[in-house]
Amino acid sequence: MKGIILAGGAGTRLYPITKVYSKQLALIYDKPLIYYPLSILMLGGIKDILIISNEETVPLYEKLFGDGSQIGMNISYAVQAAPNGIAESFIIGEKFIGNDRVTLILGDNIFYGKLNFLYNALENQKPGATIFAYQVKDPQRYGIVEFDENGKVISIEEKPEFPKSSYAIPGLYVYDNEVIEISKNLQPSARGELEITDVNKAYLKKGTLRVEKIGRGVAWLDTGTPSALLSASNFFGVIEDRQGVKVACIEEIAYKRNFINREQLEKLIGTMPNSDYTGYLKRLLNE
Ligand code: DAU
Repeated sequence: MKGIILAGGAGTRLYPITKVYSKQLALIYDKPLIYYPLSILMLGGIKDILIISNEETVPLYEKLFGDGSQIGMNISYAVQAAPNGIAESFIIGEKFIGNDRVTLILGDNIFYGKLNFLYNALENQKPGATIFAYQVKDPQRYGIVEFDENGKVISIEEKPEFPKSSYAIPGLYVYDNEVIEISKNLQPSARGELEITDVNKAYLKKGTLRVEKIGRGVAWLDTGTPSALLSASNFFGVIEDRQGVKVACIEEIAYKRNFINREQLEKLIGTMPNSDYTGYLKRLLNE
C-alpha cells in the first residue's frame, strides 16, 4: 500500500496566513498541521509516502521530513504545477504508485480517535475503493453521500446547494490501482478541477465503491478557517495537557510501531534542539 498526502492548493481562505507559507504548515497546537495526516498514514502502517505540493512549498516539506529514513519511512516529493484538482494526485503519482494500491489523505484533514475504520479498509484486499462518511452540521461544504434506508449508497455529490444527507466524505480515500486509469479519463469540472468526487462516482457506477460510516467517537476536524484552526489547536492542547501524551508525534509513532529502534530514536533526538517536544521524546526512552 502506498500513501499520498496532497498538500498544495492556494489556501486563499486563510489569507494572509497563507501568503508566505502553505496552509498545511500552519500550527496546530505544538506541531505543523501536516503532522496529523502523516501520522494517520503511519498508524495505518504505510511507510512509502509521496507528498505533493506546489513548487514553493515542496522544499519546505523536504526540510521537515527529508527522505523519511530517520523515522523508518520512505518519503518522496512531487510538484503540482497548479491546483488542478485532488484527483490529479494519481496522475502525478502514477510512477510512485506503480502496481500497488494507494491511500490518499488531504494534507489539511485531521482525524482523532479509534482508527478501526481505516484499519479495516486497509485490510480489505477486494478490488475497488473504500471511502468514509462522517456526519456534519454543514454538509454543503463537502462531498456528500446519500444512503437509502438499507444503508446502500444512492448518490455522491460535490458541495451540493441542497445536500441530500448530512454525511460528508472526509479527505481520506483507499483505492485499488484502477484509480490511476479512472483519474486519467476524468474531465475537469465546472470549477476547472479533476474532482475526487468524480473518481468516487466512477467506482460507484462500477459497483465497487464501499462507504464506511465513521462514528461520532472519532473527531474529524475542520481546518478551513482561522477559527477552525484555533479550535483544532485548543482541542489538541486540552488532550495533550490532560494526558501528558502527544498526538501525531511522528517520531513516537515510528518508535512504537517499530519503524525505528531505540538506537535510531536516540540518534534522532540527538539532532533536535532543546524543546518541550524533544523532552517528550527523551522521556519515551525511559518508559
Ligand atoms: O476535506 C474533505 C473535502 O475535500 C471533501 O469532502 C470534498 O469532496 C473534496 O472535494 C475536498 O473539498 P475542498 O473544497 O475542501 O477541497 P479543497 O479545494 O479545499 O482542497 C483540499 C486540500 O487539498 C487543500 O488542503 C488543498 C489541497 N489541494 C486541493 C486541490 C484542489 C491541492 O493540493 N491541490 C489541488 O489541486
